[in-house]
Amino acid sequence: MPMINVPVSPYTRPEMFDPDVMVVDKRWYALGKLGMVRPLMFDVTNGGWISILKAQGQGTIQRHRHAAPVTAWTIDGAWGYREHDWVARAGSFAYEPAGHIHTLYIDPTVGHMTALFHVFGPLIYVDEKGDAVDYDDVFLRLDRYGKHCREVGLGEDYLKSLIR
Ligand SMILES: [Fe+2]
Repeated sequence: MPMINVPVSPYTRPEMFDPDVMVVDKRWYALGKLGMVRPLMFDVTNGGWISILKAQGQGTIQRHRHAAPVTAWTIDGAWGYREHDWVARAGSFAYEPAGHIHTLYIDPTVGHMTALFHVFGPLIYVDEKGDAVDYDDVFLRLDRYGKHCREVGLGEDYLKSLIR
């Protein structure tokens, strides 16, 4: 069998490694009263992002439609989308294809949730009639997290280290 040499490309981007993303420190930012978010990666090339959401109480994340898929890996607690009848628990995996509209809620019998979301593109917040009221994308999220990083002294270099 002929051997094919597969070289290391000088054009690939650096890897990212964090030994423990669950440590709650200033890298997390508050999401109103609902909970907090730990951004892990901002994919400005493809328009996506990866983050962990840790939330508790009765709140929801406003109904929204995704322009690209989302994956959700549940680490702790229990949560669901009002539009689906399943409940995600530690170890659950969910894949929402592009176009899905959903409203995230925390299972009231458990009262808290932690999950890692890989959001592959922008989303549009809609009201109960389906009218767009707001949107979110990787650049808005970078702006928001950049403000947080400046406030807590994490610095621009830390923010940039999360961009690919
Ligand atoms: Fe969503």
